[in-house]
Amino acid sequence: MKENKSAAHRIIVALDVDTRQQALSLVEGLPEGQVFKIGLRLFTAEGPSLLQDVARRGKKLFLDLKLHDIPNTVAGAVAMAARQGVAMMTLHASGGREMMLRAAEAAVEEAEASGVGRPLLLGVTVLTSLKDTELGEIGMPADAAGQVLRLAHLAQDAGMDGIVCSPQELAMVRAEFGEGFLVVTPGIRPLWAAAQDQKRIMTPAAALAGGADYLVIGRPIIAAPSPGEAFVKIRRELDGADADAHGKNGA
Ligand code: C5P
Repeated sequence: MKENKSAAHRIIVALDVDTRQQALSLVEGLPEGQVFKIGLRLFTAEGPSLLQDVARRGKKLFLDLKLHDIPNTVAGAVAMAARQGVAMMTLHASGGREMMLRAAEAAVEEAEASGVGRPLLLGVTVLTSLKDTELGEIGMPADAAGQVLRLAHLAQDAGMDGIVCSPQELAMVRAEFGEGFLVVTPGIRPLWAAAQDQKRIMTPAAALAGGADYLVIGRPIIAAPSPGEAFVKIRRELDGADADAHGKNGA
């Protein structure tokens, strides 16, 4: 949990690239990086053998496939991910209680059977890409915040370890759930990085202070002139923020 995590363990580097070669050269260029996110694009391109390649380099895997299907199918996919040694993965909370309960059971059972650590399961609530008009079109209340809380509570009840939420939802989610329910936050931008297409952003230190357990960071690291240096710079900012939070000097 958070208290035992060094800053480097809280940074999840998004491997948003197309090929195994690009992904592995990023992993190798980030010796301090501990957790790497593989999403739909790279997984579709390179498949599960890439998971093994990253794991073999001593790194933790965040498999971000945002699963949403019937309970049996999702449970099966979670079991296969657990077998590959995935540390964290995402599923849509809107897939419903039964889907999440079965996924949580499958994670425990397969981890025991394979002798690996159980993957942490994270619920995705409302995609931040959805505009209010689009929420209405798919039958959701235009009140995205209410829907986020509703789905986050359902996720917690159904055995999820936490949720993914945007920086603008962080304070609301933390206030509602307190510690003990993991919050993973993308949309992170250090002051020295360009915002790109992220609209509502937060600095790494602010997100940590706001209660995020893990920060998903892509382009500020992977598109930096030196990804290794960018990682270290962010890690140092987080170390400073941690020290500040404990009333010490921020060095
Ligand atoms: O490059 P950047 O730091 O914006 O990458 C953020 C990562 O987090 C990407 O992999 C993106 O898909 C993911 N993400 C996001 N916003 C969400 C959910 C996931 O940016 N609401």
